[in-house]
Amino acid sequence: MTPQRWGGRLTSRPLPDDPIQLDDASRQLVARSWLARGAAERRAADIFTLIEASLRAVSEQPALIELAHRAIDDELRHAEICRVVAVRYAGRELALTSLPLDPPKHDGASEGLRHSLWIVGQCAFNETTASAFLEASLEQAREPLARAALRELLSDEIDHARIGWAHLTAAPEARYRELARWLPRLLDANRREWGRAAGADDDRFAAHGWISRAAIAAAVDSAERDVIRPGLEQVAASRS
Ligand SMILES: [Fe+2]
Ligand SMILES: [Fe+2]
Repeated sequence: MTPQRWGGRLTSRPLPDDPIQLDDASRQLVARSWLARGAAERRAADIFTLIEASLRAVSEQPALIELAHRAIDDELRHAEICRVVAVRYAGRELALTSLPLDPPKHDGASEGLRHSLWIVGQCAFNETTASAFLEASLEQAREPLARAALRELLSDEIDHARIGWAHLTAAPEARYRELARWLPRLLDANRREWGRAAGADDDRFAAHGWISRAAIAAAVDSAERDVIRPGLEQVAASRS
């Protein structure tokens, strides 16, 4: 049975119903940004199906496998939260498009190492960056609906990131040494992926949860500088 965070409910508390203060053309643009985010969240659910299988393949501890299993449901909820916000902004029903699952090939890595690279790349790097991105979005958001939705999304990403950090910390020595050689490439790939995130041209829609490309780039930089790199140093120190 799939463990569900809020007993099957979409959010920890109902999303607010306040009227949205924005002209119609802008509402349609903001709706499109939330719908795109929803599609990415749905793909994250597919990625966690892969991560759960990878954790099983490398015989990770059951608690992490359970967390990854719940993450599938978390990401499906995130997708639906984003879609609901998009619908509220658009004032009409909208459906999410599905994005192809295209995991990195990591050519040259053994099968076991590839599982570990997926786990670390998705959880430790991508989800940690997602947390920084959502924090930056929440900091700038003013509209109650956007703030509530961002808070719901953020509350799960920290658990998702933990899977990757725990995996890295407890990796057997030989695997850790292999992983360490790949980490710079994984970090580059994470930065490249986030470089493709669809930010707004400026801060005009930040109050509605859609921050600018410049703000996304700053959040990605800060995640790497202030969380990921110090985290990697801490893992290395804990193992020496
Ligand atoms: Fe998510
Ligand atoms: Fe996540």
